[in-house]
Amino acid sequence: MDRLNDKTAIITGGARGIGAAVAEAFSREGASVVIADSNAADGAAMAERLRDSGHLAAFVPADVSDPAAVQAMSDSALGELGRVDILVTCAGRNVFAEPLETDPDQWREALAVNLEGTWNCMRAVIPGMLENGAGSIVAIASVHAFSVIPGTFPYPVAKHALLGLVRSVGVEYAARGLRVNAIAPGYIDTQPVRDYWRGSPKPAEAERRTLQMHPPRRIGRPEEVAMTAVFLASDEAPFINAECIVVDGGRSALYHD
Ligand SMILES: NC(=O)c1ccc[n+]([C@@H]2O[C@H](COP(=O)([O-])OP(=O)(O)OC[C@H]3O[C@@H](n4cnc5c(N)ncnc54)[C@H](O)[C@@H]3O)[C@@H](O)[C@H]2O)c1
Repeated sequence: MDRLNDKTAIITGGARGIGAAVAEAFSREGASVVIADSNAADGAAMAERLRDSGHLAAFVPADVSDPAAVQAMSDSALGELGRVDILVTCAGRNVFAEPLETDPDQWREALAVNLEGTWNCMRAVIPGMLENGAGSIVAIASVHAFSVIPGTFPYPVAKHALLGLVRSVGVEYAARGLRVNAIAPGYIDTQPVRDYWRGSPKPAEAERRTLQMHPPRRIGRPEEVAMTAVFLASDEAPFINAECIVVDGGRSALYHD
């Protein structure tokens, strides 16, 4: 409790899944939050739920792939919050294909949302953070930033590049009070993972196999990513910068069973 007292945060993709868990955890830890999401119905409902629990929360609709919309969202968030201490970028989309079957729209969407969307948000908030001499940015990457599941192209291309973005911006502005870090979740129990299983020929078997391949024999919960985001965003991590924390139950470290 109170680990983010008096802090203000913009959380993209906060309408559901990992972003919603981040919004809840940040609120619980004392932050005032603005949820930015392209899903207006779920985003507004999420902010209302937080307000009903006594937290300071607002929703601002925005498609992160649209730089002008992101700038308008950031201006509006600044009006709500007074200043922006923290940005957590959770907005992302699975765009999965076999490389040679990927059409140009899929390529563009994967990079526009997962990579450029994060940069659009960073670019909008960083000038204010530099003025304040402080700011913490946490980007939700993926284990797809290091490794690849065949048939998921071009999502890993975007996530690999996202790590490059985090490290570049983190190094660039460290001397002016900014920290920029990433979290690389493995399988986390959210709707896209359930949709991925459902899309396989034998969904129950696909789910069972996924749970089995993780050392704890389960996948992660959104709250477990959110707890890491709280840590990275908070004053408990003052010398962690341009880094990425893997949250996958040890799956990436496993050679084989
Ligand atoms: N769930 C996992 O297993 C997992 C693993 C690794 C990384 N991730 C990453 O975590 C992030 C959140 O994933 P999730 O599983 O919670 O997904 P989710 O689909 O439940 O939530 C994503 C949210 O982002 C929003 N969004 C999508 N495109 C947007 C856009 N263009 N502009 C604004 N908002 C947009 C959606 O409306 C939704 O509310 C993503 O970046 C994803 O790549 C997820």
